[in-house]
Amino acid sequence: MQIQGTHYRTIWTEPGEPGTVYTFDQRLLPFEIRIAALKSCEEAAQAIEQMLVRGAPLIGATAAYALYLAAREAPPGVDALPFLREKAARILRTRPTAVDLQHAVRRVLDTVEANAWEDSASAALQCAEAIAHESAAQCRAIGVHGLELIRAHSQSKGGRPVHILTHCNAGWLACIDYGTATAPIYAAHDAGIPVHVWVDETRPRNQGSKITAFELLQHGVPHTVIPDNTGGHLMQHGLVDMVIVGTDRTTRRGDVANKIGTYLKALAAKDNDIPFYVALPSSSLDASLEDGIREIPIEERDEEEVKYTWGMEEGKLKKVLTMPAESPAANYGFDVTPARLITGLITERGICPASEAGILGLFPEKRGL
Ligand code: MRU
Repeated sequence: MQIQGTHYRTIWTEPGEPGTVYTFDQRLLPFEIRIAALKSCEEAAQAIEQMLVRGAPLIGATAAYALYLAAREAPPGVDALPFLREKAARILRTRPTAVDLQHAVRRVLDTVEANAWEDSASAALQCAEAIAHESAAQCRAIGVHGLELIRAHSQSKGGRPVHILTHCNAGWLACIDYGTATAPIYAAHDAGIPVHVWVDETRPRNQGSKITAFELLQHGVPHTVIPDNTGGHLMQHGLVDMVIVGTDRTTRRGDVANKIGTYLKALAAKDNDIPFYVALPSSSLDASLEDGIREIPIEERDEEEVKYTWGMEEGKLKKVLTMPAESPAANYGFDVTPARLITGLITERGICPASEAGILGLFPEKRGL
């Protein structure tokens, strides 16, 4: 996608610069567009942990590139695989909820194992690049399928703007390109269909107000940032036509883990008969799980993220205490929306109900996993 008129993907390598992986430091957005150079497996792992990179598909791709950097660090003359497995264990400890992380690590290890004759670094790099390309293609296809939902709504409204609420950032900065929840929105906007996006600020790290708003501004998509508790009221007053959110992990029966607060939006949408869609690239599908509430690991992060917030003051990024320092705070990163509250899943292969039959209908190869 474009930043100030230049096309970017969120993670890349430069020809002639082996051992360096570039990405954006998303902690500084929208105030500063800083490109970070990751030069070791540990730096890439910390980039995931400290949320320099974030968003399920980008976390997956970064994990794959981290193993490429690890393969370059493997002592010469030793079998790289045991070394890589150790590094993989480190990467898997970074964040628990986004299943893209596990999928990517597994795939790189399998690729290196399958290509034992080839130097593991180039096998790992090829695999990381394949994961990135596939993710971009999945997101683009989600855009194509999701566009038809927005187009139909626009026609039913006689061409008046379609108001879409989204939570957190499931945009191109959370992926490699196009985004998941944002892909249909960009496709509709580019097709000349009037849209307006209600952007949940998404406490405590404000991925909505900081990153989604930044993206939509760069692309010229009309939007309004709202406090997280506003969506229900807007729905009651007919100001939301549909909700589209992303997912970090979706089970085979269609239970969806996404940023904390998503479940409450789904409840409000159900209560007001508003379609609630989840954009699901198959990289985020975990067919080995069924009951999302019982089985999906939910990340708990440091209470600091709740107690303090970051903002710009006099040109400087400042950390500000927002509550009594003595009061404890809890910081759950994700929640689970049960399939019964979801109107449909927008995948790269089409739109399906949030059900085992629906998902396996589009992804029969996931049967029995
Ligand atoms: O904690 P984050 O910023 O990594 O959480 C991101 C989300 O919850 C996204 O909605 C999800 O990863 C989907 S990204 C396409």
